[in-house]
Amino acid sequence: MKTSIASITIFLILAASFTSCNKQESSMTKQSFGKTPDGTEVFLYTLRNKNGMEARITNYGGIVVSLMVKDRSGNPSDVVLGFDSLSSYIKDTPYFGALIGRYGNRIGKGEFQLGGVKYTLAVNNGANHLHGGLKGFDKVVWSVDDKASVPGETLVLTYVSRDGEEGYPGNLSVRVAYSVTSNNELKIEYSASTDKATVVNLTHHSYFNLAGAGSGSILDHELFIDAARFTPVDSGLIPTGELRNVGGTPMDFTTQTAIGARINDSYEQLQKGGGYDHNWVLNKPFGTLGLAARAYEKTSGRIMEVLTTEPGLQFYSGNFLNGTHVGKGAVKYQHRSGFCLETQHYPDSPNKPDFPTTVLEPGKTYTSTTVYRFSVK
Ligand code: BGC
Repeated sequence: MKTSIASITIFLILAASFTSCNKQESSMTKQSFGKTPDGTEVFLYTLRNKNGMEARITNYGGIVVSLMVKDRSGNPSDVVLGFDSLSSYIKDTPYFGALIGRYGNRIGKGEFQLGGVKYTLAVNNGANHLHGGLKGFDKVVWSVDDKASVPGETLVLTYVSRDGEEGYPGNLSVRVAYSVTSNNELKIEYSASTDKATVVNLTHHSYFNLAGAGSGSILDHELFIDAARFTPVDSGLIPTGELRNVGGTPMDFTTQTAIGARINDSYEQLQKGGGYDHNWVLNKPFGTLGLAARAYEKTSGRIMEVLTTEPGLQFYSGNFLNGTHVGKGAVKYQHRSGFCLETQHYPDSPNKPDFPTTVLEPGKTYTSTTVYRFSVK
């Protein structure tokens, strides 16, 4: 009798601790991130691998809110800029950590022609259209595909962009899978389909600082970009159509160079961009996943490699940051305190017949994969 009471007690204790573990597990992988002004609750999902790399992502804008990565001594830091609260993201953000669409980067004058029809898009960047318009994919609430997601590992987000949204033709169904892999990668797999010919160019807009978000300037980070050419721009940052060799210019990152080494050179393209804000024409074959860039921060030892299937990479050195955004931990993000490596097709492709096409036809599937892989030296 004694023995059976003891074993029942042990069984109950074990059962209770198992349930509480599960509860803890689920509250650790999904928690409320607040409500949008129209009352929609959005969530924060935590993805983590066995090495302790951890991403926290909200389904508002598909934003990566934090990304914890270990340095060479094994100490984790958050390497992406962002805010502590949903309301700050809603109020004013320079696209911190967001998913960008329907078209990442600029479309000149917010106009393009497709199938003999002229489409007029929302204009939100001087005379041009930027990052999907006034309410791009960075400002919508994405649905979470619970069946396809793997708690703690992969978060699958979906969104249907309606025909005419921000001026684009066609109902576009978009799916984005974020994963934290056992190889210390943040992997992003995009796909989309449409019911009418449209243009699509999806990307991700994290601002990285490998020494830790809010720790200061990124000018000492060393950067390698595997690209022999880039797309020079006009004063509105619209490509002129030229693919220019980087050789002999401050745009040459084919050998690893500090971001700040030449950023203030009197090179007209740097003056137009206020620093680096250009698209590099990647050497790797378009359509296959391969290395596009590598960034190294020597005090932490952190290395970030960017692999992609895309033909282009926008390197933006955070030139428009000016201390007005108060980020996580009440830190003001100063000029060039984060940099973006946005994988994509070249800007203004819908108006540049010689650039790889961004047109998506009904019956076809748009796919794109990008990996941010972390290691230390
Ligand atoms: C662009 C910058 C722009 C920034 C917005 C980048 O992708 O290249 O010109 O200012 O996004 O925060």
